[in-house]
Amino acid sequence: MTKVKMIGLTMVAALCLAGPAGAETASVARGKQLFATPGLGASQNATSCTVCHENGGGLEKAGAKPELAAMINRCIQGPLQGEPLSEQSVAMQSLIQYVQSLAQ
Ligand code: HEC
Repeated sequence: MTKVKMIGLTMVAALCLAGPAGAETASVARGKQLFATPGLGASQNATSCTVCHENGGGLEKAGAKPELAAMINRCIQGPLQGEPLSEQSVAMQSLIQYVQSLAQ
């Protein structure tokens, strides 16, 4: 097998592991992306979490709080004017994982 083919196969394998776009797997990376993208909870305004929490700033202690999902939903319903996310949803689980990843 040529080197180029090897690299190609490695990339395909990496893509499969990362999951195709839209795959229903919660992850820190997905949470980070959602955090920076307007439209959470079917929000119609242009506000994303990063508008107020730039790079997750100020949320370093939030990941340890048991009411984290409720806090996230409060911001989705407040500034984003969206609908609260189900705690089991991939989007909420990803946001939780991302916020928890900010803990130092
Ligand atoms: C308009 C500004 C604004 C936007 C947009 C916003 N937040 Fe907040 N958020 C706040 C304020 C203000 C607080 C409460 C005070 C604080 O913790 O700084 C807060 C608190 C929080 C907390 C609790 C922090 C703690 O330690 O108690 C979390 C978690 C959080 N926001 C997540 C999010 C997420 C996720 C989004 C995007 C869906 C978001 N926020 C969007 C302003 C905002």
